[in-house]
Amino acid sequence: MYVCSHCGDLLDIERVEPMAEGPDELHARWSERLQSRDARDRSGVWRFREFLPFGGDVAVVSLGEGNTPLYDAPRSADYCGLNSLKLKHQGNNPTGSFKDTGMTVAVTQAVKLGMRLVACASTGNTAASLAAYAARARLACAILVPEGQVSDAKLAQALDYGAKVLEIEGNFDVCMRVIKELAEQSSLYLVNSINPFRIEGQKTVAFELAEQLGWEAPDHLVVPGGNLGNSSAFGKGFTEIFTAKLIPNRPRISVIQAEGASPFARFYDSREFVAEQHPHTLATAIKIGAPVSWKKAWRAVHETGGRVTTVSEQEIADAKATIGRDGIGCEPASATTVAGIRKLVSDGFIKKDERVVAVLTGHLLKDTDYVIKYHSQTLSAGEQRIRGTFANAITRVAARPCAIEAALKNVND
Ligand code: F0G
Repeated sequence: MYVCSHCGDLLDIERVEPMAEGPDELHARWSERLQSRDARDRSGVWRFREFLPFGGDVAVVSLGEGNTPLYDAPRSADYCGLNSLKLKHQGNNPTGSFKDTGMTVAVTQAVKLGMRLVACASTGNTAASLAAYAARARLACAILVPEGQVSDAKLAQALDYGAKVLEIEGNFDVCMRVIKELAEQSSLYLVNSINPFRIEGQKTVAFELAEQLGWEAPDHLVVPGGNLGNSSAFGKGFTEIFTAKLIPNRPRISVIQAEGASPFARFYDSREFVAEQHPHTLATAIKIGAPVSWKKAWRAVHETGGRVTTVSEQEIADAKATIGRDGIGCEPASATTVAGIRKLVSDGFIKKDERVVAVLTGHLLKDTDYVIKYHSQTLSAGEQRIRGTFANAITRVAARPCAIEAALKNVND
């Protein structure tokens, strides 16, 4: 499924005819659509539908995804050693993660094909997103999750949206392998990011981001790496709008992985891809040892001159708390970006005055257990205690004004 019968690599969707409209016309049309009430125009994905592989009459399955903010993050910039830093917050999607931008397209395609059952393997966010879009489309939905390794918030979403949640003994890679085998033998429609329609949706985030920057790309775009669909999608998106002359430059795309789950970073160093048998990280969203899209992601990194690097559990936790102090917040996997940028600045790869955008992939509330443990200094990764460098512990106070006043004495901004 989804692979070339000759080389075995993942399929890509490519436009064969040149775009009928020029860049000025497209910029203007997309801008006009911001005033429209049409559901397709209100979606941050379908607004760019000239670049999606559907005719004008397709019935889209949408929850109003995309349209996510691009924040200035001065504290995070300071922390990284940059003059400024922008955060593209994909956690502000309908189900709280970037997956929605791909899922709207994949589920639209499932309906178009007349599929009855959609399925995925997931560390939680794909599951929550698919469950929601399947419910909107009135499709049956099955998700495979690694037992005991998915946050409660993500499971709660999938359950409430009515998906059949199957807990599998084993990690995400085991779930992925089993669901691929099943998809080959049955009529279920698989919507993990090996499905090229997912990538088509996610690539539009590059369009939205470039538009927010006045139709320019930043110097650097930094993305967390798990199964590597998202970095692949950004690579494809930026290449398409650059080729169509909608932007004058492409960003260097760098991918950051957690130290304990970093097969792509090892590939970057050695140019030999070896899956990791026992991936481990507290950033459960990216606890993945055999990423399916590593070749596509490599194309994005290699073609743009980016880097792939790793960050430790401590670095992720502290970066996450720093993003929180900008009033933004994110889930642990997303914070690899800010931790990674800090490292790439100190290595000299990113310069202090360059334009840098980090992609935050999931909402702060996706994993509150992690947050509470960090701030109460009880977070640990196996034997390793994670320091609460920026911990903000809860204070117990007596119900008396003077006690409260005393507790507030040293409060600052
Ligand atoms: N950040 C978050 C919050 C994620 O949920 C994921 C992946 C990633 C980053 C990595 O993105 O896989 O495209 O490289 N989550 C998948 C899931 C695996 O099942 O929800 P990627």
